[in-house]
Amino acid sequence: MARTAGFSFASENISLELVYDPNHTSLNSRPSERTAHRSFLDSVKTPLGLPPLVIAVLLLLTYPAVLLPQNSQTGELDLGSGKSIYLAACVACHGPDGKGQPDTTLVFKKPATFPDFSDCSGTTPELDADWKATIRRGGPGRGFSPIMPSFSEALTSEQIDLVIGYLRTLCREPEWPRGELNLPRPLMVDKAFPEDEVISTTTLNAHGAPGVNNEIEYEHRVGVKNEIDATVPVAFTHSTGRWLGGIGDIGLGWLRVLGLNNRTGSIFSIDGTVIAPTGSPRRGTGAGVTTFETFAAYGQLLPYNFFFQGEVGANLSANTRTAPQSLFWRESLGKGLRQGQGDGRMWTPMLEILARRDLLTGAKTGYDILPEFQVTLSRRQHVRADFGIDVPVTNTQGRPVQAVFYVLWDWFDGSLKEGW
Ligand code: HEC
Repeated sequence: MARTAGFSFASENISLELVYDPNHTSLNSRPSERTAHRSFLDSVKTPLGLPPLVIAVLLLLTYPAVLLPQNSQTGELDLGSGKSIYLAACVACHGPDGKGQPDTTLVFKKPATFPDFSDCSGTTPELDADWKATIRRGGPGRGFSPIMPSFSEALTSEQIDLVIGYLRTLCREPEWPRGELNLPRPLMVDKAFPEDEVISTTTLNAHGAPGVNNEIEYEHRVGVKNEIDATVPVAFTHSTGRWLGGIGDIGLGWLRVLGLNNRTGSIFSIDGTVIAPTGSPRRGTGAGVTTFETFAAYGQLLPYNFFFQGEVGANLSANTRTAPQSLFWRESLGKGLRQGQGDGRMWTPMLEILARRDLLTGAKTGYDILPEFQVTLSRRQHVRADFGIDVPVTNTQGRPVQAVFYVLWDWFDGSLKEGW
């Protein structure tokens, strides 16, 4: 009797079983008998009009069997190391070097988001937990293409961790901060991690004179350690009996990572931003003077999915008679909670403590507390919302309680329409 070693993977809609038979020179593959998956064959069409199941079979047949790791004594597929799991289960699509098989070999068209595991700029911002969710649940589980199958039945949790460990070795530049340091963004505390994001933050006065403030921030990562960003605020107040408002002071900034330790989970950056007096002091939308804002930001991973983020900075106005200079320091403590055994939506409660003090004799420090929670909206987790209440606790004169919320789009992970 021929000794065979089986290997199968399945997603919500696709299932495939590979059977290695030492009496044959190459891999045989046969669809599993699960008829529930049949409907998928009719529903998904690829550029060649072939269903993904057929594609995966074709790919595996065209892949040289010699590269597949097998125990020469028993003929069984070796799934004991990250590399051997990769060669057995992933290489047919992702290629021996992680760059993806050449288009000429692949029978499916690579989606624009198809990963190149050797490209550090594309892979290091991703968290292991997010990759694990994609590998367990397949592409559709995370708003990706259904061509990426689910391995929840074929691989154990430990084997998935092993193969992720192997994927991480394909980026060979250790100076890149890993995705785990890319902590959830608080409403007020600035992040130390360089990002590719657009954030729209709205602040509403909960009492006192009605007021609405909206700020759009665009962030663009440049290389390993830099980010450039632009901020455009729009403010409206109703303090003088009528609504006054318009565009506020536009800021242009540069953030640079100065230190990081992927092992201890620490990241430290500095930022310098020039804020131009594009707003109007009369309308309450601007300081009326060019301001230089600078801060140092720090992020730290803590046990049990807790994390800390803090910053210390100064607002240095070019003319202290028009606008006083000030110091600020802000801290936040948060905890990431993932639904569905870690694969689902992520909820992140955070508590911020904010302080600001004008550099004037006799000035008082204004402290605020800001409880909030962030939630991922899209399956791909690239669109998120955060909602909180900013409560002034000292120096409260003229500082109303405010509701604050943002919508955040990580544009590096896909367009706003994708990934739901
Ligand atoms: C049948 C082809 C196929 C096989 C086999 C396959 N993948 Fe994929 N994989 C894809 C495609 C296609 C994508 C891109 C999906 C997209 O961007 O919409 C992908 C995407 C991914 C991603 C990226 C998710 C992200 O966040 O960008 C990871 C991680 C991944 N695959 C890991 C694996 C691992 C590990 C294996 C083996 C255990 C594997 N894949 C096997 C086709 C495959």
